[in-house]
Amino acid sequence: MSSTTRITLSRFLIEQQREGGNLPPQLRLLIEVVARACKAISHTVNKGELGGVLGSLGSENVQGEVQKKLDVISNDILLDANEWGGNLAALASEEMEAIHLIPHRYPKGEYLLVYDPIDGSSNIDVNLSVGTIFSVLAAPEDCSQRVVTEQDFLQPGHRQVAAGYAIYGPQTSLVLTFGRGVFGFTLDREVGSWVLTRRNIMIPPGNREFAVNMSNQRHWAPAVQHYIDDCMQGRDGPRGADFNMRWTGSMVADIERVLTRGGIFLYPWDAREPERPGKLRLMYEANPIGMIIEQAGGAASDGRGRILDIVPTGLHQRVSVVLGSADEVETALAYFADHAGSGEPAAP
Ligand code: AHG
Ligand code: MN
Ligand code: MN
Repeated sequence: MSSTTRITLSRFLIEQQREGGNLPPQLRLLIEVVARACKAISHTVNKGELGGVLGSLGSENVQGEVQKKLDVISNDILLDANEWGGNLAALASEEMEAIHLIPHRYPKGEYLLVYDPIDGSSNIDVNLSVGTIFSVLAAPEDCSQRVVTEQDFLQPGHRQVAAGYAIYGPQTSLVLTFGRGVFGFTLDREVGSWVLTRRNIMIPPGNREFAVNMSNQRHWAPAVQHYIDDCMQGRDGPRGADFNMRWTGSMVADIERVLTRGGIFLYPWDAREPERPGKLRLMYEANPIGMIIEQAGGAASDGRGRILDIVPTGLHQRVSVVLGSADEVETALAYFADHAGSGEPAAP
């Protein structure tokens, strides 16, 4: 094979299936369908004002967040693409309160799909990067004989069989893992196919760059304030190095940067809603991104332990996240451990 041969997503998936024998055909087809739906979402996002897709709907989702038109359009694109193919037992989304069962007229498959149709919704109308995040779980075996329930979805992230995200930015790309490394594809719009452009993505260590919404600083637990304060003191402070800050408001975009050049991303607990563990959702944000980060050699923690080991108690449950290169996450966790047991509010 010449080095100029383009490997499309379809070819990559078929080769993965042949080589390892550990990519089941139904999972391969499912990923093809999700990737095709992301292509459709990308075209819709690109149309912007011309497609009448900007702005809000006036409705709220189950989390009490105002739904943007694109949240709902993208949710429906993924739903329509996935329900008839026979690969899924059920699906669930940020934009739907309850799980969605496969209608009786279609065959039921072996997998469960959970997704965030548009991540970074607040960026849609201002023409900044947004994305789609997805997680695939195996349905419990007896699901073929009975009605799937929300309980069937509540599996810890380490049981994900695949995870990925698409990012609709200056380039449209797709990042995927099946638990054997992380691979990146770029959408070739003229041809209409995803082309493999990054193999075995590994997060570079040592990058002094953090992503956190600094406007929430005064509400964080002291441990998080301490960690970020020390980064902000730069070369003259205890970290002995200048740090750069980036915050896009779209986790997918911040994670794309972390995968590309390193650093750390945090969305910690804050005191305004003390009962809420964090902002981001475990099952369709933290788990799939956590799996990708770990597969790229990084670490994904809720500030106490591994995100992928959390046993979910609800579809829309929230969690604190500390994600990034293993060295910097370890440093942050050491700050949090130092504060633990001090009687302070939960860290992070
Ligand atoms: P979503 O658009 O799916 O609700 O997710 C938005 C998330 C995440 O992408 C981002 O990191 C964070 O919310 C932004 O929150 P701020 O409003 O604090 O910037
Ligand atoms: Mn999101
Ligand atoms: Mn969303």
